[in-house]
Amino acid sequence: MPAELSPIDKAKFAAARRAVDFIQDGMKVGLGTGSTAAWMVRCLAERVREERLKIAGVPTSTRTAELARELGIEVVTLDEAKWLDVTIDGADEFDPELNLIKGGGGALLQEKIVATASDQMIVITDAAKEVAHLGAFPLPVEVVPFGWQTTRALIEEMLVSMDVMGRETTLRQNGGKPFVTDEGNYIVDCHLKRIGNPRQLSLVLNQIPGVVENGLFIDLCDIVIIGGAEGEVEVR
Ligand code: 5RP
Repeated sequence: MPAELSPIDKAKFAAARRAVDFIQDGMKVGLGTGSTAAWMVRCLAERVREERLKIAGVPTSTRTAELARELGIEVVTLDEAKWLDVTIDGADEFDPELNLIKGGGGALLQEKIVATASDQMIVITDAAKEVAHLGAFPLPVEVVPFGWQTTRALIEEMLVSMDVMGRETTLRQNGGKPFVTDEGNYIVDCHLKRIGNPRQLSLVLNQIPGVVENGLFIDLCDIVIIGGAEGEVEVR
């Protein structure tokens, strides 16, 4: 483990380090986005270097693609890889059924496409992200810029009929301008506090024209690796 890490980075590193043990020579691997996933890319690059592993990595964002290339991991597109053995990614929240909220880093669309095209999804996280019910973390919803205010109004209208506690939404900003995703879209963050039925909410959100995808990952995660501040890990 690198020296001088904060307790939270120690936890993220420990989870990431354990996750790359699942990678074997010749695998096609989805590379997640975020600070925990960045540790995983570093750990994977170390294995590739030291063990001369032949790995094809499919990044879920331009940030991850840049890091992976910089560290010597072969990067291919999802269309080149077609189907992946495993994706390793972080999350913003996970519940007892291993349903997730993702998209805090704005990469939820590529992350969901890549996770769906993988035999297995491994989530790496710290214990603070475990919740009994999803929703304390604002749910990101990716929308096309055209007519985004109308789409946001439709989302708010729909939330009234759903089993959620909060209904406020905000357009994600970056330096006073709308945050723009790698796919050129905006993100509406939904402050729901508690989501009673994540599966239903996900389906209903994706039926609104203008919504591209939402940050609920239902039935996608197979394994969660939880890192601790002392470098301990729990695999579930
Ligand atoms: C990016 C994500 C990230 O996985 C999520 O936000 C967790 O990030 P971090 O590991 O930095 O806490 O979904 O879209």
